[in-house]
Amino acid sequence: MSNKSLATSAEKLCILVTGGAGFIGSHTCVELLAKGEDEARLKFYCANILDRAALESIFAENDIDAIIHFAGFKAVGESVAKPLEYYWNNIAGTLVLCDVSRAHGVKNIVFSSSATVYGEPEFIPITEDCPKHDATNPYGQTKSMLEQILTDLYVGDNEWNVVLLRYFNPIGAHESGMIGEDPKGIPNNLVPYVAQVAVGKLPYLNVYGDDYPTPDGTGIRDYIHVVDLARGHVAALDWMAGHVGTGEPIGLGSIKGEASPDETRRGVGIFNLGTGKGSSVLDVVHAFEKACGHEIPYEIKPRRAGDIAVNYAACDKAHSEMGWKAEYDLDRMCEDSWRWQSNNPDGYRSA
Ligand code: WQD
Repeated sequence: MSNKSLATSAEKLCILVTGGAGFIGSHTCVELLAKGEDEARLKFYCANILDRAALESIFAENDIDAIIHFAGFKAVGESVAKPLEYYWNNIAGTLVLCDVSRAHGVKNIVFSSSATVYGEPEFIPITEDCPKHDATNPYGQTKSMLEQILTDLYVGDNEWNVVLLRYFNPIGAHESGMIGEDPKGIPNNLVPYVAQVAVGKLPYLNVYGDDYPTPDGTGIRDYIHVVDLARGHVAALDWMAGHVGTGEPIGLGSIKGEASPDETRRGVGIFNLGTGKGSSVLDVVHAFEKACGHEIPYEIKPRRAGDIAVNYAACDKAHSEMGWKAEYDLDRMCEDSWRWQSNNPDGYRSA
């Protein structure tokens, strides 16, 4: 069965966003609505990707053109304790989704992957052709396996159009302060933990190791604003539609008005989504202190198992091929994260 063309104009594109109520998914929906202009509408379905009947009815009710697939469990530590749940939910869920979408002639999928597939990277900054290494946890394994599964779908049927987006460290929040990161329980990740210290929910930050071979001894990561990340997904849809990056910020709007012959790509595109800049734990602490206007207390603790010293991206490929580039710096990421956290100390539970 052939695949859907994406050469139609933007307001007619129907995108299924799985995990659309999550941190990155919700921000991506906002960017899709903005690019779709006033014709764009959002329909919410509370459904599980493992529920074949629910997926069947969603595809039956909507003329879906492409999928942006975020839905999945994502806590590294939890995945070590619950491997069966992670493999079942993330892998089997994606298989059901792809089976149903294929049955409806939809073979355009943007997949939420992760820099974790590089494991301990062979070189820094990390390019897309840096060898993948075994992830140190089942969560990371599911990302790596799903990259392979989606690639094999294309190898077996060249009608598939797959984009694998490898995120580095997404942080921040929409500038409105109305949506943001809302982890369950005690945050595993640095910035939501710092934000909860800043708002007084936690007493101090544990800095896991200050003896790494880095300028200030703490771990270095490539933090990227979640809105920049969301715009990378919109650019990926444009890329799928066959539009070569122009170096300008692009999005669904660039499909509209370019009623080009069906240039919808076929194949597998792999892109790092980061800023290309590394920041240390203490860089983040200091940027957040600027944003919130007071000190963030911290204590140095031993290194966390599984952590690597330095990890940041080379993002030239996303810029040259998709015309996408991160715009926001660490200060803006912390300002927006603080606005969300201070407006919503208990996350969505306080709404
Ligand atoms: C960042 C730095 C810690 C918490 C993880 C996942 C990865 C991806 C992004 C999904 C490290 C230090 C942290 C704390 C600290 N997720 N830190 N105190 O580990 O780079 O990546 O999230 O795709 O798959 O592995 O992010 O925010 O946990 O840690 O000192 O309380 O902050 O040691 O140097 P990480 P992180």
